[in-house]
Amino acid sequence: MAPYFGNKAQFKMLLTVFVVAIAISWESIPCAIAARELSVGGGSYGEEAMKARHKTWMAKHGRTYRDEAEKARRFEVFKANANFVHRSNADGSRKYRLATNRFADMTGDEFMAMRTGFKPLSSSLFGASKLPGFKYENFTLSEDYQQAVDWRQQGAVTDVKDQGTCGCCWAFSAVAAVEGINQITTGQLLSLSEQQLLDCSTSTDGCQGGNMDNAFQYIISNGGITTEDSYPYTAVEGTCQSDSVQAAVTIRGFQDVPADETSLAMAVANQPVSVGIDASSQSFHMYSGGVMTADACGTNVNHAVTVVGYGTADDGTPYWLLKNQWGINWGIGGYMLLERGTNACGVALHASYPTA
Ligand SMILES: *[C@@H]1O[C@H](CO)[C@@H](O)[C@H](O)[C@H]1NC(C)=O
Repeated sequence: MAPYFGNKAQFKMLLTVFVVAIAISWESIPCAIAARELSVGGGSYGEEAMKARHKTWMAKHGRTYRDEAEKARRFEVFKANANFVHRSNADGSRKYRLATNRFADMTGDEFMAMRTGFKPLSSSLFGASKLPGFKYENFTLSEDYQQAVDWRQQGAVTDVKDQGTCGCCWAFSAVAAVEGINQITTGQLLSLSEQQLLDCSTSTDGCQGGNMDNAFQYIISNGGITTEDSYPYTAVEGTCQSDSVQAAVTIRGFQDVPADETSLAMAVANQPVSVGIDASSQSFHMYSGGVMTADACGTNVNHAVTVVGYGTADDGTPYWLLKNQWGINWGIGGYMLLERGTNACGVALHASYPTA
């Protein structure tokens, strides 16, 4: 939990305000934020100019602090992040761009504690519906896999969501993969319930983290998962309501992808795939566009997202198309292009998908 919230009730109230604010601002967040921030260039910032920037940033993101001490502390964090963003963008060799997005007053540790939550499984699931082998092992990729895949264009990807300050990235990643395979097999795109996984999947640690394979297993054992509308997201773990909702989509099993990028491409060519990645770097938090490269993150997998395609950028850099769940004011409308071919951020290490 964030150290700057006084107590649990206060935290919950702020959380509610936060979630509601996200829902309200969802429509109104300008798409030009990254470009506008990036245009602030030339030299380093003086203390007064930085204070003015912080104030503008606070207004834009509706941020308030409980007292002057807290504001001063947050200003220091903002300043460090803004200078980091500035230095990175000034380096002409970088293929990606950063921005002081709405996370710019959070330290890396706070960020990781509140907005990630992937836990790799130490051993394979027992008595589970995990299928042996890899069903796409004989799939033929187009030559050099130059041909781009983008499941959004096939209508298999729902709008970008927001996990808020709850470490249940695993639920969002699993749901996005199930939404994808369901649309591919039935032709119907249904937004499904992360909250049901958060409340009901007992083999995960809720907001403290989890794994997509455990989520798939829950869906199978439960006989399906309901829609987002029937069981909406609150970003707080609650009592399981699965008895009072109707399953909308079910899956038969799930499979792990062999831990290499060719296998990952074979799977992604057929359906959106859940992956674990290392999202701990400052560059990852502040990412706003271009192709994120392997040098800007490690391979200590701690976050979960969904690979919904791949392609090649104009400068020839091959990339994976990642759907994240940190809202649309992060990355490219909520998405990231991640360098492909270098196992950037450990993208191929923990990949799996549900089978219809
Ligand atoms: C792939 O091809 C091999 C050789 O023909 C075959 O033994 C194997 O069953 C195939 N795998 C799948 C998943 O179809």
